[in-house]
Parts: sequence; C-alpha cells; structure tokens
Amino acid sequence: MQPSDKALVPFVSVDNMMRLIHHIGVERMITEIAAQIEDDFKRWESFDKTPRIPAHSPHGVIELMPTSDGEAYGFKYVNGHPKNTSEGLQTVTAFGLLADVYTGYPTLLTEMTMLTALRTAATSALVGKYLAPKNASTMAMIGNGAQSEFQCLAFKAMCGIDTVRLYDIDPAATAKCAANLQGTGLKVVSCRSAEEAIEGAQIITTCTADKKYATILTDNMVGPGVHINAIGGDCPGKTELHRDILLRSDIFVEYPEQTRIEGEIQALDPDHPATEMWQVITGQAEGRRDDRQITLFDSVGFAIEDFSALRYVKRAIEGTEFFEPLDMLADPDDPRDLFGMLMRAK
Ligand SMILES: NC(=O)c1ccc[n+]([C@@H]2O[C@H](COP(=O)([O-])OP(=O)(O)OC[C@H]3O[C@@H](n4cnc5c(N)ncnc54)[C@H](O)[C@@H]3O)[C@@H](O)[C@H]2O)c1
Repeated sequence: MQPSDKALVPFVSVDNMMRLIHHIGVERMITEIAAQIEDDFKRWESFDKTPRIPAHSPHGVIELMPTSDGEAYGFKYVNGHPKNTSEGLQTVTAFGLLADVYTGYPTLLTEMTMLTALRTAATSALVGKYLAPKNASTMAMIGNGAQSEFQCLAFKAMCGIDTVRLYDIDPAATAKCAANLQGTGLKVVSCRSAEEAIEGAQIITTCTADKKYATILTDNMVGPGVHINAIGGDCPGKTELHRDILLRSDIFVEYPEQTRIEGEIQALDPDHPATEMWQVITGQAEGRRDDRQITLFDSVGFAIEDFSALRYVKRAIEGTEFFEPLDMLADPDDPRDLFGMLMRAK
C-alpha cells in the first residue's frame, strides 16, 4: 500500500547530510547555523527550557535534549561514550526530530552526529566572536578527535584565526587532524604537550573526552587575556580545567541550570557568578571588558542550539534531493479507523 503524503516525514540520512554540507560548504554552513543560533538566543525567553535528561551508566551517558518555541518542538538524542573510539565506535552520535506544535506531527527526522559537530563549532565560534580578544590569530586545539577540525574551521571562518596549534595525548589523533586541515588555509602546528600548544595562542579550545575529572589545563599555563573555549567537560564528574583557572576567569554559560550540573562550574559554589550568553548577545550583560581578562566559555551544549540547527536543515533541504520521504506516520482514511487500516493491509 502506498503511504499518503500525510504519512511522510522528510528524513536526512548521514549520506544526505554529508552531501548537503558539501553542497553548502563546511565553513558557510557553520556560519549560517551560528547566525540561526544567534537569532534564537536573542529570543531566549520564548523557549521552553529544561536541563537535558541524562541516563548515566559506567560506560557513558545517553541524553535527550528537548525544547520548543511554541510553534515548533525539537529534540536530540545524543550519547557520550569516551571508551567507544577504542572499539571503533564514535564517542558522540546523535539524531534529532522537529515537530509542528499545532498538530504534533513530526516535520523532520535527521542524523545529528555530523550536525552536532557543526552546531557545536558554530556555538563555540559565535561565543568567540563576542568574547575572544580582538585580532586573535592563533588557537590552541587540545583534543584532536571528532569535533576538532570543525572547531578549527569555525574559528577560522568566524573569528579570523589563521593558525591552529594541535595537541592530543594520542599523536595519531593529532596527525589525523593535521592531515584533514591540509588545504583549508589554516597554518597547522602539531605540538607534543598542552603547554607547547598554548604558546602564543589567544584562544584555547579544550575538547577532550574522558569519563572523569581530568586536568587538561593547570592554572600556571593560562596567561592574562586569553579566551578559553572548554567543550569537553559536559557531564557530572567530567571536567577539563583546574579549579584555580575558573576562579581567575569570567565565566560564560549557555543555560546555568544545566551547566551547574554538567560544566566546569560543577567544581564551584552553586552561587558562583556565571553570565548567560544570551544576555551578552542581547547587550544586557557585559562580554569581554579588557585585554587582560580571562574569559571562559563553559560549554556543555544546549537544546536551543540543536533546535536552531534542525530548523536550519529543514529550510536547507526544501526543494532539494538531500532527503528521503519516510513512511513514519500511520494515516488511515478515517482517522479513528487505525484497526481497519491494519486489516486492509493484510
Ligand atoms: N559542549 C558541547 O556542546 C559538546 C558537543 C559535542 C561533544 N562534546 C564533548 O567534547 C568531547 C570531545 O568529543 P569528540 O567527539 O571530539 O570525542 P573524541 O573521542 O573523538 O575525541 C576526544 C580526543 O581527546 C583526546 N584526549 C583525551 N584525554 C586527553 C588529554 N588529557 N589531553 C589531550 N587529549 C586528550 C583523545 O585522545 C581523543 O583524540 C567529548 O567529551 C564530548 O562529550 C561537547
């Protein structure tokens, strides 16, 4: 039986997402998703917000990230399993859905492993645009795994970075990242320690994966004036920075109710000041004050960023071939005759 139009939901597979990204261009797509996130952060108060819903295990975490602006509803399913790469699997995989609040019908189902890398890089560089020192040209990239190239390209496209200094405890990861960045226009320096990587860097991105408290940066390594983009610490019991760095920094977050549970600031008192990025973006709170201040983006990833990315993809695939119609919703001729529909299919 042929499904009716009402049964069909556009589905973007990994293959189609990769074709879409190439069609648009990696840097352009990151920049456009960042613009969508910026617009949505400007209307922060119109969203339903909740810390994401985690299911922790000794192996990792599985999370649901829902939000709605009253017209559309979106959620992402995402995991974080640092041990996975040793088994040939990704640390982070994801898929997501957008729905129409009026009918409750899904309007998009998509892979979000690729899309999460783009939206995380877009968010980081958007925040960097507001907080990084003016004329920053060099970024240290510590942790050279799945997210790393996207981060480097985002800061190149949006913050004017021309040099990245790479470090990972696994030299094979650094070699992979350096090879992937060939021909992108970035000058790439591979380093043997985190100390070497941050030499001369105005921006430090930490994007490591470990299911425990790690100390990627110690206090003596961080000089005045830098912007730290800390992405990897995003779970209870999983952080990257020494507490003393936090005490010297002005801390900026996405959604404090979630970051206080998951971010670097879980190591601080619950009332330690943390500025919400939407307030910086709308001009209600101050961003970088001077060139000696250390700014720290304590990133954990928030549902509105995924919602922005989902809406971006929904628009971008319209009229293209970068999706397949998925027979996902039962559509009986008489809406109350679901059983009859089943029997007629015999
Ligand atoms: N904040 C967000 O929005 C957001 C989004 C996506 C992923 N993440 C987090 O970012 C982290 C990285 O994700 P990924 O997909 O790139 O993971 P990945 O496993 O592909 O890469 C992580 C890299 O970190 C390296 N590493 C581990 N410990 C290190 C250390 N002490 N020093 C230097 N390098 C070290 C590993 O060797 C690996 O190459 C994860 O913890 C993930 O949960 C956060």
